Amino acid sequence: MIKQKEYARRRTQLMEMTGVESVIILRAATQKFRNNDVGYPYRQDSDFLYLSGFSEPEAMMVLLPAKKGGHSIMFCRERDPTREMWDGVTSGSEGAVEDYGFDEAFPITEMNERLPDLLHGRERIFYDLGKDPEFDQLLIGWMNEFRAKTRKKFLAPDEVIALNHSLHEMRLFKSRPEITAMRKSARIAAQAHKRAMQVCEPGMNEADIHAELLNIFTRNHCEASYIPIVGGGANACVLHYISNRDELHDGDLLLIDAGAEYDGYASDITRTFPVNGKFSGPQKDLYEVVLAAQLEAIDTVREGNPWEQVHEAAVRIATEGMIELGILKGGLEEALEEEHFKNYYVHNTGHWLGLDVHDVGEYEIDGHSRVLEKGMVFTVEPGIYIPPAAKAVDKIWRGMGIRIEDDVVVTREEADILTFDVCKNIDQIEALMAS
Ligand code: GLY
Ligand code: MN
Ligand code: MN
Repeated sequence: MIKQKEYARRRTQLMEMTGVESVIILRAATQKFRNNDVGYPYRQDSDFLYLSGFSEPEAMMVLLPAKKGGHSIMFCRERDPTREMWDGVTSGSEGAVEDYGFDEAFPITEMNERLPDLLHGRERIFYDLGKDPEFDQLLIGWMNEFRAKTRKKFLAPDEVIALNHSLHEMRLFKSRPEITAMRKSARIAAQAHKRAMQVCEPGMNEADIHAELLNIFTRNHCEASYIPIVGGGANACVLHYISNRDELHDGDLLLIDAGAEYDGYASDITRTFPVNGKFSGPQKDLYEVVLAAQLEAIDTVREGNPWEQVHEAAVRIATEGMIELGILKGGLEEALEEEHFKNYYVHNTGHWLGLDVHDVGEYEIDGHSRVLEKGMVFTVEPGIYIPPAAKAVDKIWRGMGIRIEDDVVVTREEADILTFDVCKNIDQIEALMAS
């Protein structure tokens, strides 16, 4: 669990970045409905969660850097016994102060009367427009009113600055408690992948495997951090395959991309293994290429190396391997330069990971790849996909899709691999599947 103190530290750090002339506003995610009164599972906005740990809807956070060296206010739903009978216990303003460490809290119903006062005297508002259009309108309305009054020497903000740059830079660097949560998330996801390997056999359905994954997540009090991909055979070549309803056939590979969300933090793991527990010759050959690319890429993960080096390392090895197997023609340098590998290596080799599975943070600074720093967490996930219709390739490869994905933390030395619990060598996979 991330402690109250850490959330308070994050708010203070953000207020120091935005400066005393500012006011910071964040809105909780809105509850979305599937139909009538049936809601989609509620997930708090990750920025809001990062600064509060507060996971209720209908809430707003106002941070005032000028006041007493940083003042945090929460607006949230008041406790209501009738409503709690339907939806369960809520925090109320008392809970927001006591359990979440806010300096003050008010009912969200008082927002309209209190917020304009809180904006007085501030030069600029840090707020992300576009996430909550209804509130955007309200805020712009107030600012227009302020502008009219300013002529009568009424000091009020006339500038809205996106929060995401400063906040997302903070979110990119994970603290020790965050890494602990992510390790836990990764361990649970690893357990789910191992379970899938152990139960998988020809004749099962992708849905059976999907259910096994969710079973492990739920028993460990986790959600899935995204809809799992369980793709047998050529379904593995559909990158965002989520229907997960086909039969698993003897002789096919199965690609599973599934991660857990623990305490708000995502893991993201992919493993590819044979449905019947034994890799065929060609499956082995292509798998070894992807694995070698991934190991080489992970080898480049350390403080001081450019982010793009991870991708370049993976692509070089994967391209070399595809040439050796006859999947690509011609020489290595030409295949790299002219990007022939992109026919079958279609995505990047990784992304930041954190509260969001595709987490926030810039990949480039001033047009250059950023340099890896301690505490950054990302995935390393090379993949080669030969669609069934790839006529340029010998048919032994067609319909094979292989990705191997692990989650790594940048340290001064070699990468800290959060997902090491689930094996990826051919021998280990075959041994686990036979057990
Ligand atoms: N599971 C999404 C991804 O691997 O990026
Ligand atoms: Mn993934
Ligand atoms: Mn990923």
